[in-house]
Amino acid sequence: MSFEKSFNSSPSIVLTTPGRVNLIGEHTDYNDGFVLPTVIPQSTKIELSGRGGSRVRVASLNMAASGIESYMLGEEVNNGGWLAYIQGVTQVLAKSGFKISGFDAFIQSTVPTGAGLSSSAALIVGLIKALRLAYQLDLTDKAIALLAQRVENEFVGAHVGIMDQMAVSLAAPGQALFLDTRSLEFKLIKLPKHLGLIVINSGIKHSNIGGGYSERRQSCEESAKFMGVRALRDVSIDDTRKMMLLPPLLAKRAHHVITENARVVAAVSALQAGDLTRLGALFKESHASMRDDYEVSIPEIDILVEIACADPAVYGARLTGGGFGGSIVALANAQDAAAAAKRIADRFELRTGHKATVLVP
Ligand code: GLA
Repeated sequence: MSFEKSFNSSPSIVLTTPGRVNLIGEHTDYNDGFVLPTVIPQSTKIELSGRGGSRVRVASLNMAASGIESYMLGEEVNNGGWLAYIQGVTQVLAKSGFKISGFDAFIQSTVPTGAGLSSSAALIVGLIKALRLAYQLDLTDKAIALLAQRVENEFVGAHVGIMDQMAVSLAAPGQALFLDTRSLEFKLIKLPKHLGLIVINSGIKHSNIGGGYSERRQSCEESAKFMGVRALRDVSIDDTRKMMLLPPLLAKRAHHVITENARVVAAVSALQAGDLTRLGALFKESHASMRDDYEVSIPEIDILVEIACADPAVYGARLTGGGFGGSIVALANAQDAAAAAKRIADRFELRTGHKATVLVP
């Protein structure tokens, strides 16, 4: 299948948007905190041509066994599945006063779904960027990230923060996006040449819709209310008096968020100093905090992280993304990363029977 075969013409726009891996700063974005994601080589390619009228036709190499899906602008409904992301984009654009007409789009992606690597943000941001080109929409990359978040929050029903959309819209290879999710101010931090990033997908799928993700988010909002602050971002680890106001479970959850924010700031310094040992130690602390305080890890991911941390070439490893499955990110020297990643995936399969996939390097 291709754009040409699906629609009997050539696309006028071809655009590629990367997935992202979060280095550190997990579950901090909906607490107005800091995050530090970077892009991965896996990406979503969108080919698109605008047409007159209001019919949207979409085909996808990955998703649509049934060929071309179609709907009318103004009649968007969320029936679940990947088409919801497309319909969400056109509805949110219309609600925000942006005028488009019907279009044909062909989508193919190498970002695995449910892997904690922002396949949905890559799709939504990519589609809005393609429509920006097709219809000369007056939108900055930051404004596109905000619209993409609204698609997830208001249409898809995933109450996610702003990290993923900002990362895939603004970050570039070889750089990490140090983002303040309250002000949306950001700095691009150069990744040192000797840093070898490892990303391994456990193959155990996660979802940000409902369930654990929403429940964690609510706990944070409750904790902030208890402590009389706008968001957990406004509490520092020395505010023990405020922390003592919280019931035990909320205190654990808040402890993760507050310490994780501090770890992001420390990680930026470590990156700038090229100090992989320090960065690796922060990865390990972050994982322990997600596992014990925030409880968003699962036993298989803990095993994968444990195997990674035991590898002689690895400085540190952690669960990345929303959790409850998905991928890990680990650090090694650039020249050791490929061999270490393979060793980790092999040992994981031997120990658990699950086939993990090395995505980076
Ligand atoms: C998902 C969400 C993000 C963020 C992470 C956890 O990826 O989309 O907004 O909350 O989980 O850090």
